[in-house]
Amino acid sequence: MVPDDPLALLKEHVTSETLIEHCVATGAIMRALAPHLDEDPDLFETIGILHDIDYEEVAGDMERHGIVGAEMLLHAGVSEEIADTVRKHNHHLFRGHSRPVDLCLQSADSISGLIIACALVKGGAIGEVTVKTVKKKMKDKGFAAGCDRDRIRSIEPIMDLDLFIQSAIEGVTRIWRRSDD
Ligand SMILES: [Fe+2]
Repeated sequence: MVPDDPLALLKEHVTSETLIEHCVATGAIMRALAPHLDEDPDLFETIGILHDIDYEEVAGDMERHGIVGAEMLLHAGVSEEIADTVRKHNHHLFRGHSRPVDLCLQSADSISGLIIACALVKGGAIGEVTVKTVKKKMKDKGFAAGCDRDRIRSIEPIMDLDLFIQSAIEGVTRIWRRSDD
């Protein structure tokens, strides 16, 4: 099954606000990408929100990350389709992704932090973050250094990078609250 409230399910296993923000942002980007690929926005967002559900449980053990997450999801009654995508998003264990959902998750997972960092540099004004800003910051390897640029580019076989970045900005904008404070 597809959980009615993936965020509530995530919060049963994750307490870090930063991690929850990362998962929500990744989900929002996934939702924004789906229509461009004729995919299901609800399913894509759900996968994005849930992809790091085991992050606190595995406590940095990247040999278990994703595998444990898939087990948690199956235990909660979530479909194998979603669980398998979560399992395989760990690029330390699984390579050669080719399905659109896998490529989108690789790229969304990696760009979400970069876009949030770009917005924070602009004092929280996500409306000032443009494709140009993000591309410039992608070249600055010291900026949001944890965001793997090669992994962001996973999307390129199925989507133009500019369209991807634009969609990712739109996705994060939809869930952004700081600029309204
Ligand atoms: Fe992630």
